[in-house]
Amino acid sequence: MTVSKFAQSALHDSFLYNHVSAKLSKLDLQMIQSIPQGGNWQDIPLSVANQSARVMKIRASGGRTTYYGRLNPSLPSYTINTYFNRPGNGTFIHPIQDRLISFREAARLQSFPDWYRFKGSNTSIYKQIGNAVPPLLARAIGLLFKKSLTIDVFAGAGGLSLGLQDSNHKILAAADINTHMRQTYSENHPDTIVLDVDFSNPIQFESFIERIENELRGRSLGLLAGGPPCQGFSTAGKWSIADPRNQLVFSMLRIVKHLQPEHVLIENVVGLRIQKNGKTLLAIQENLESLGYRSEWFQLNAEQYGVPQRRRRVFIHASRSDGLVGPPTPLFSMVGRKKNGIEPGLDTSDLANPIIVQDAIGDLPSIPSGGGMHTIDYDNTWITSSYQQYIRNQIPFRDLVMNQSG
Ligand SMILES: C[S@@+](CC[C@H](N)C(=O)[O-])C[C@H]1O[C@@H](n2cnc3c(N)ncnc32)[C@H](O)[C@@H]1O
Repeated sequence: MTVSKFAQSALHDSFLYNHVSAKLSKLDLQMIQSIPQGGNWQDIPLSVANQSARVMKIRASGGRTTYYGRLNPSLPSYTINTYFNRPGNGTFIHPIQDRLISFREAARLQSFPDWYRFKGSNTSIYKQIGNAVPPLLARAIGLLFKKSLTIDVFAGAGGLSLGLQDSNHKILAAADINTHMRQTYSENHPDTIVLDVDFSNPIQFESFIERIENELRGRSLGLLAGGPPCQGFSTAGKWSIADPRNQLVFSMLRIVKHLQPEHVLIENVVGLRIQKNGKTLLAIQENLESLGYRSEWFQLNAEQYGVPQRRRRVFIHASRSDGLVGPPTPLFSMVGRKKNGIEPGLDTSDLANPIIVQDAIGDLPSIPSGGGMHTIDYDNTWITSSYQQYIRNQIPFRDLVMNQSG
């Protein structure tokens, strides 16, 4: 039975899922208490900082000003990565409370609707949320293609799938190697076939192709979408060309060869553009061309599509016969870069105002560091912004854009 997202929302309207934050150590708690909104490790007094080897290392090397960052409520957040359980790896301190953001707050900053429930271990949920394509970004891209039968590979928690589904694509099947990821995916995509596949294993690869051919029953595949692991490309983590996980992007091309979808969409981190001086990106495009596809790539800023987050991602699109589409038109203005430690202000372009942290999470109940619950009663009277209404499925996206304009 198909459960529409509005029906799902009605079912879950009075609950808030996964509002749980990681526990801070005594020292981390002491350190974050001295950090103001928009501040970072530079605000930690030396008398406290010198008790932490990590902060002293950052001080010595002049580390990123996003480390030990406290969210500025008046701007979109910085990138939500998979380490929002650690204050020293990004800007994850709650704007008002002395704790890290909860899973739900991170999910809100990634534009996951409130009915989307994350399953599996806490360790996995950091990865599920931090690695996801923000559904609103995926939705903007999905609108570029006509409604089609789609397969999502390396599907994770399903952020990419959700955005494609919201832009009218039917997700026939999704595949991932990880049990917890598949658990979350299945919970939230009851009409999609969820497969356990290791794409680096030739036998599993073959049986995946066979299974999909059977499921297609002669129908043509409209879109093959996927976000292969990006650890090897990422500019945030350890960066290694030799990382075998980089090759998984090429296993996606082998799927293209077998299934010959009309369109291909590959999502990745911006590091993909510069890896091997751009040769990896070129190799992917040449491969696609040899399979009979024209291709293009674009780098998108998530905040320009309604995501309350400054997240940059690269998308490669390839088409067999429909031609190229170009990037989706931005609807929200972009936020400038931080310069000399100074936070940028909001742009004053004609586009809608981007969604800011306060609007994204300002209604969520206070919880202590290391506290919260996986299911909490939620009262709709707490809502204070259009984004909160959108994320609780009370208004459509076009109303959100309209309310953010002017
Ligand atoms: C970047 S995440 C994908 C995020 C997803 N597109 C989303 O929007 O939520 C990459 C996924 O690839 C999966 N993965 C890693 N190695 C794999 C392999 N060899 N075969 C299949 N899946 C794999 C991981 O478990 C992870 O969920």
